[in-house]
Amino acid sequence: MFKQTVLLTGAAGFIGSNFVRYLFDKYPDYRIVVYDALTYAGSLDNIPRKIRDSERFEFVYGSVCNGAQVMAAMRDATIVVHFAAETHVTRSIYDAADFLQTDVIGTANMVGAAHDAPHLERFIHISTSEVYGSIRPGLDTMDEDHPLEPCSPYASAKAGADRIVYSYWKTYGLPAVIVRPFNNYGPRQHLEKVIPRFITSALRDEPLTVHGDGLASRDWVHVDDTARALDLIMHAPLGAVVGEVFNVATGIDTSISEIADLVLELMNKPKSLLSSIGQRPGQVDKHLGDARKIRNLLGWFPTVTLSDGLERTIAWYSTHQDFWERMLWMRKIKIRTAAGTEFH
Ligand SMILES: NC(=O)c1ccc[n+]([C@@H]2O[C@H](COP(=O)([O-])OP(=O)(O)OC[C@H]3O[C@@H](n4cnc5c(N)ncnc54)[C@H](O)[C@@H]3O)[C@@H](O)[C@H]2O)c1
Repeated sequence: MFKQTVLLTGAAGFIGSNFVRYLFDKYPDYRIVVYDALTYAGSLDNIPRKIRDSERFEFVYGSVCNGAQVMAAMRDATIVVHFAAETHVTRSIYDAADFLQTDVIGTANMVGAAHDAPHLERFIHISTSEVYGSIRPGLDTMDEDHPLEPCSPYASAKAGADRIVYSYWKTYGLPAVIVRPFNNYGPRQHLEKVIPRFITSALRDEPLTVHGDGLASRDWVHVDDTARALDLIMHAPLGAVVGEVFNVATGIDTSISEIADLVLELMNKPKSLLSSIGQRPGQVDKHLGDARKIRNLLGWFPTVTLSDGLERTIAWYSTHQDFWERMLWMRKIKIRTAAGTEFH
């Protein structure tokens, strides 16, 4: 009856829930199954009632850390998109255990179950650009062959997961594809991440705090562009993508300070709201992606400019206080290092 059954882990979170909306609207003959442990980062409210009530949609409450549960959830799946992870760098600095458990062991459970799943055609693993660490001196951009030099426990857990998936393709021929998105932003991103934090701080006329000098730069990708990239990877001929790694990046880097300035400018707020806090340990200096591979092979390129994307994201947070007001306590959390530096 359904053309595909797509199992999406972690899709009650930011990127996954945006992708669920995209898939639901574009592919009416697909069944969508979300498998999520609903941690502090996930909420079923991120998936609209129209989708949740549809007979094409199913939610399975479960953890990727539970191998038996994962195996059961994968029984009917033809495509898996594995988003589930602990994702916040700062949290990984004060408690790496959850990251190793969910990101590494959870991914090992996923590929182990995928290997035995009777109908599986494709396994798409959502890795991250964080696995590269900072750009190697002398290089202009980071392509898929850039060395993996993860700087934080989050990044190293994701690097482990990335390579576990690769090894299942190499060893067992699992039809796996690895995707390394650069920094995503857009609606429904948790307040612990920098762009929603800046926007909601500005909305409340509270300080926008940057780590250290604010010069650390990132390649910012709007979540809608990531959804289009995942769509292309999901539907490309398998032979063109299997065993491959794809960056999803714009090729433009913008510093955290510049992001803060842009947010203030777009929201007509004074620069005096800018303030700084201690440098975060394990900070990546510069991230700048090379997306020529996905452009040349699959025709993907980013369509949302940073200023347009920020404007849209500001508009969303301005009208969705219900989403973020419950997360405001996050702002109060600061970590103090042994040397007395504070960061969040
Ligand atoms: N946000 C970014 O900028 C970015 C960039 C590159 C890659 N990624 C990767 O994309 C994926 C999604 O990121 P996000 O920003 O949407 O994350 P998120 O933190 O918003 O959501 C994570 C989701 O995973 C779920 N989850 C956590 N532990 C789980 C477990 N044990 N079992 C099942 N579900 C569990 C949570 O409940 C939540 O719904 C992650 O793998 C992340 O590493 C994110």
